[in-house]
Amino acid sequence: MDKRDIEMLVRRRVQELGLDMNPGVKKEYIIAANWKMNMSEKETKRFLEEMKAVHIADNIKVMIFPPYPYLHLFKENLRYEKIAYGAQDVAKEEKGAYTGEVSASMLGDMGCSLTIVGHSERRTYYGDTPQIVAQKAKAALTYQITPVVCIGETLDERQQQRYKEVLKEQLDAVYNEIGTKVGDCIIAYEPVWAIGTGVIPTLEQIYETHKYIFDVLKAYGLAHENIKILYGGSVNAKNVKEIASVEHVNGFLIGGASLKAESFKNIIGLASEV
Ligand code: PGA
Repeated sequence: MDKRDIEMLVRRRVQELGLDMNPGVKKEYIIAANWKMNMSEKETKRFLEEMKAVHIADNIKVMIFPPYPYLHLFKENLRYEKIAYGAQDVAKEEKGAYTGEVSASMLGDMGCSLTIVGHSERRTYYGDTPQIVAQKAKAALTYQITPVVCIGETLDERQQQRYKEVLKEQLDAVYNEIGTKVGDCIIAYEPVWAIGTGVIPTLEQIYETHKYIFDVLKAYGLAHENIKILYGGSVNAKNVKEIASVEHVNGFLIGGASLKAESFKNIIGLASEV
């Protein structure tokens, strides 16, 4: 057992005992909902209605990423400043003859302050290379839209112990495009093998990988306080608290468990208890 493992065990034990290692300082968490290609207009309206009554603790920031056609409902109905919203993707180009694409300035018009880029489903099914993902992040930042840059390895890459190399390549592509503005992005670590599968990495694996990502970002010259790394992949009400207690986990990107307001609100409440 090395120093890091011991630190993590101590942290967990301290939490089990209900002790606070940093009295007065509560860790902040981002709780983000990635709806993917789900929900209808009616369901979105109902969800927003149910969110009105939600209590959001001071250390929690909520984000929702609905499909493009429902963004206007967020613009019209969301009167809660603690809930930010954004798109699930953005064009790398600013404007022009790009049929089917939606630009960063259009997202701005819809009141979005955020966009996901590089989700593994985009990388796998729609050919978003590390380079394209980096260009999308750049396009978003040009319009003051915060990119949530998803990175993650496949099961094969994990089993072959190649995950660090893969994650570094995905991060380097973004750094090469935008330099230290990577600090204006939120990073979401989503192991592809954990997305929608119900399989979750061990807390040790999450700790080790988040620490690795943190170190890569630090080596780019980013300040500790500008580094935000979310975990994503089969997060639900049962596992959110223990994952939240892992160092360098600054929040969650949640798919399936974010589709029902009840379940999403439950997760928001649980994260605030950590
Ligand atoms: P999941 O999806 O929570 O359904 O695993 C997470 C994601 O793909 O962002």
